[in-house]
Amino acid sequence: MTRYICVVSGKGGVGKTTSAISLAHAMGKHKKTLLVDANLSTPNVNTHLGAPILRKTLMSVLKDEASLKQAIYTHESGLRIVPTISTVHDLKRLKYEKLKEVIRDLEGEADIIIMDSGAGLTREAISAIEASNEVLIITNPELNAVLDAQKTIQVANEIGKTVLGVVINKVKESKHELKIDEVEKLLSIPVIGVIPYDKNVRKALKQKQPVTHSHPRTKASKSYEEIAGLLLGKRYFNSVNKKSRIIEDYTLNHLGLG
Ligand SMILES: Nc1ncnc2c1ncn2[C@@H]1O[C@H](COP(=O)(O)OP(=O)(O)OP(=O)(O)O)[C@@H](O)[C@H]1O
Ligand SMILES: [Mg+2]
Repeated sequence: MTRYICVVSGKGGVGKTTSAISLAHAMGKHKKTLLVDANLSTPNVNTHLGAPILRKTLMSVLKDEASLKQAIYTHESGLRIVPTISTVHDLKRLKYEKLKEVIRDLEGEADIIIMDSGAGLTREAISAIEASNEVLIITNPELNAVLDAQKTIQVANEIGKTVLGVVINKVKESKHELKIDEVEKLLSIPVIGVIPYDKNVRKALKQKQPVTHSHPRTKASKSYEEIAGLLLGKRYFNSVNKKSRIIEDYTLNHLGLG
């Protein structure tokens, strides 16, 4: 059965798109994976990965102008994507709830579908959560980002989605940042990965590549590979944080893989 994992945050700019792209690329080495840009109003996947000439996108599918399979593209890194391009006109008429219906057409097309989503808790962001089965929270080690993540977790729980855990991104290890255990206490879910603030992430963005593809040996890429492995139920013992064993067991059990 296909797994639908939505990457969400609450606060904008914390690294959802970067993480969705990197995790989808990293998972793609082990499983058939597809990245869907479910950030319908401000889609970013296409800007992160370069803009090929797109005949059909997720928006065409939502407008009944194409099938989802016609909107699948393969990026030069090997990552398969369903991009989105939207106009203000499209958004005025859009029925966001339709996303959860059309996305099921991808059943069997991939083992894992990673969905990038928009910031906030708008109807649009909630539709992306509704269209998934599992939710991965991205945050930064700052109180405002974590408090927004808290609300997102609450919504995901209320609509019965499995919350896989939280990834703390852009960690600089400064004394002003929240620590892993503080984030866990505030969110009541495990931190399953920590991505350092890494200038190579921005270099990869400039090159329009997943960082895991263009800069595979960097700290950020290694962290993404590790989280990807964890989400696929693989065992990693050299985790960036000492709690890896507990986190790993939590995740594996949660996914029925333990
Ligand atoms: N680990 C990191 N180290 C350095 N820069 C990063 C890291 N993660 C993300 N960035 C940068 O932060 C910026 C925002 O990232 P991204 O677009 O992934 O965030 P987002 O949560 O998807 O934003 P939005 O809410 O607008 O969709 C980008 O310029 C990206 O390159
Ligand atoms: Mg984004």
